[in-house]
Amino acid sequence: MITLDEFTIEQLRLYPQATGELSGLLRGIGLAAKMVNVQVNKAAIADILGEDGGAINVQGETVQKLDSLANNTFINVLRHGIHCAGMVSEENDDMIVFDDPKNNQSKYVVLMDPLDGSSNTDVNMPIGTIFSIYRRVSELGKPCTKEDFLQKGDNQFAAGYVLYGSSTMFVYGTRRHSVNGFTLDNSVGEFYLSNPNMKMPEDGTTYSFDYRYYHCVNDKVRKFLDFCNESKNGEDGRYGNRHASCMVADLHRIFLKGGIFMYPSRKQKPNGKLRLMYECNPMAFLTELSGGSATDGGKRIMEIEPKDIHERCPIFIGSKKMVEKLEE
Ligand code: F6P
Ligand code: MN
Repeated sequence: MITLDEFTIEQLRLYPQATGELSGLLRGIGLAAKMVNVQVNKAAIADILGEDGGAINVQGETVQKLDSLANNTFINVLRHGIHCAGMVSEENDDMIVFDDPKNNQSKYVVLMDPLDGSSNTDVNMPIGTIFSIYRRVSELGKPCTKEDFLQKGDNQFAAGYVLYGSSTMFVYGTRRHSVNGFTLDNSVGEFYLSNPNMKMPEDGTTYSFDYRYYHCVNDKVRKFLDFCNESKNGEDGRYGNRHASCMVADLHRIFLKGGIFMYPSRKQKPNGKLRLMYECNPMAFLTELSGGSATDGGKRIMEIEPKDIHERCPIFIGSKKMVEKLEE
């Protein structure tokens, strides 16, 4: 069995000019994920469930205690490492520039949703972490800048997610390689390669959408939902509906089994809810790398030129044929 560290180092050997920095960065993210995993696992007995003193983040969302713990863990691990010039987090209004002699030399910046689906924590449902890695465009040796983060998704160098589910998984992909999944062996404290070269099925039999929004999405989306739900024989609908209310968990299923995930715009949220830079882009990167598609309804997610680190966009993402059907 090969570990996450062994795997990233082995990949490195394919490129004589590689410096090992990406491996080091992924190792840092993996370490922080293991620390978050411990907190998530004992949350109910360590008094770390529920809201964080009523705090509201820049998104206008209630911050859970575990959101803050996960956020601090990722920031601290990356800051004290040597492989990341700075980061953007869902939980922080502004970018975090590490600005120390070691990290200023790093060519990478990270954008991250430290705890996706965090309203699931209190009910022991799946939650996740999502990350996106870019090569910086500013000068090495100096502090990173906003331009390093505000790059379109097509420029991503790597991306990944961690799923804290019935087991904990670390899934990542780099632009030169495929998507690979690792499962945490809690007794050893290592991620082991369990899902090599993940390929999203071309077609699927499920769709993921929160039906509470059925009445406020536009007619075209509603028409597609009706198509999904249509009965061919007067009995079962065409597709099954699967919705865990955690983008990471909903999409993980789609990576393995096929399907489509939708968070469209609606009257009250004209740009949808999900954030382009640390939810939609990294998931679109992994989806395309594994054979699927991701669109905002008009264009590919990764073609969107970002204007703000926290901007939102509608998203339809998953198996190629299902996204084609939606577009049709
Ligand atoms: O952070 C975003 C998120 O938690 C996703 O994981 C999930 O798909 C979505 O929000 C659910 O949002 P809501 O129930 O508020 O529409
Ligand atoms: Mn999220």
